[in-house]
Amino acid sequence: MPRVEVTTPDALPEERNAESALRPSRLDEFIGQPQVKASLQIAIDAAKARGEQLDHILFFGPPGLGKTTLAMLMAKEMGVELRTSSGPVLERPGDLVGLLTGLAPGDLLFIDEIHRLRPVLEEFLYSAMEDFRVDVRIADGPNAQTIPMSVERFTLVGATTRFGQLTPPMRARFGLVERLNFYPPEELRLIVLRSAGILKVPIDENGATEIAKRSRGTPRVANRLLRRVRDYAQVRAGGAISGAVALEALARLNVDEFGLDDMDALILTTIIEKFGGGPVGLGTVAAAVGEDSGTLEDVYEPYLIQQGFLERTPRGRVATPHAYRRFGMTPPAVQPTIFDR
Ligand SMILES: Nc1ncnc2c1ncn2[C@@H]1O[C@H](COP(=O)(O)OP(=O)(O)O)[C@@H](O)[C@H]1O
Ligand SMILES: [Mg+2]
Repeated sequence: MPRVEVTTPDALPEERNAESALRPSRLDEFIGQPQVKASLQIAIDAAKARGEQLDHILFFGPPGLGKTTLAMLMAKEMGVELRTSSGPVLERPGDLVGLLTGLAPGDLLFIDEIHRLRPVLEEFLYSAMEDFRVDVRIADGPNAQTIPMSVERFTLVGATTRFGQLTPPMRARFGLVERLNFYPPEELRLIVLRSAGILKVPIDENGATEIAKRSRGTPRVANRLLRRVRDYAQVRAGGAISGAVALEALARLNVDEFGLDDMDALILTTIIEKFGGGPVGLGTVAAAVGEDSGTLEDVYEPYLIQQGFLERTPRGRVATPHAYRRFGMTPPAVQPTIFDR
């Protein structure tokens, strides 16, 4: 079954530039997540009042909800530089030393996918985060020697889709831990309207509402759907996005009214049709749909669970009655969840 990459929340390589044009450039342009914004604002104000660097911050939550954007906004609000790297890219302690020694006082070091940092690097980072000091090894073998080196007082900003994979000592070193949640349609509608303004696409309230409803709770998806609908509107509808134009365009993209895409649908129908609705283990579902189990868990499941299509039970994944009805099927009289919770 061909994958239609419309609602999956990971950034597509070709949309990186388009994304940066749509990134809010001030914290107050960042729509939604009011609690996260409020606690970040307090942290900024307090750090500024003390004339100190920000506490280390961890952002976690599914892809496309604004983790990288918030890291950039924090640097901007503090008037400092943001250096970026990511867990899988950093290989040796030397890679980190280079980054750390390049920092000016108060700078932000952003490490994306921080759960994928190698254990040696993680330990290395601890002393940098706590004491702004690193022990640099200058030889190997019997003559191994380490010299302590100090680094400027910086702020580490970590981002992860998998909070559970972060080691407890790593978690404990963040002063602020902020979880990003899926956005309600009303906030997504505001994001669509804002992005349409930047892209100079005429759109009405209904057009924005239809796109928002199908965005999987995810700003990245909302912006992507907006760009696709804009293309359709340009070619077929004189450029403007009304509710009807949005609906036509979205129908062509195979996005249903819940924002489910082909992979979401495949996961649910597989559990229902091949595994009697569950419970079935994550690995088994992953093998049956041909997707990596980590991706299923981080990218697809959170939204299906939030929307009430899927449940995680101790014995495995279960399709809910809502999922059966979504595909025009009758839910079993006795739901497996009753016994398996
Ligand atoms: N709250 C928001 N308001 C406006 N745009 C947002 C918001 N959150 C995310 N975006 C946009 O969605 C896209 C993905 O955000 P990003 O920060 O890269 O997500 P993440 O790092 O969590 O995967 C970016 O283009 C960003 O500008
Ligand atoms: Mg990111």
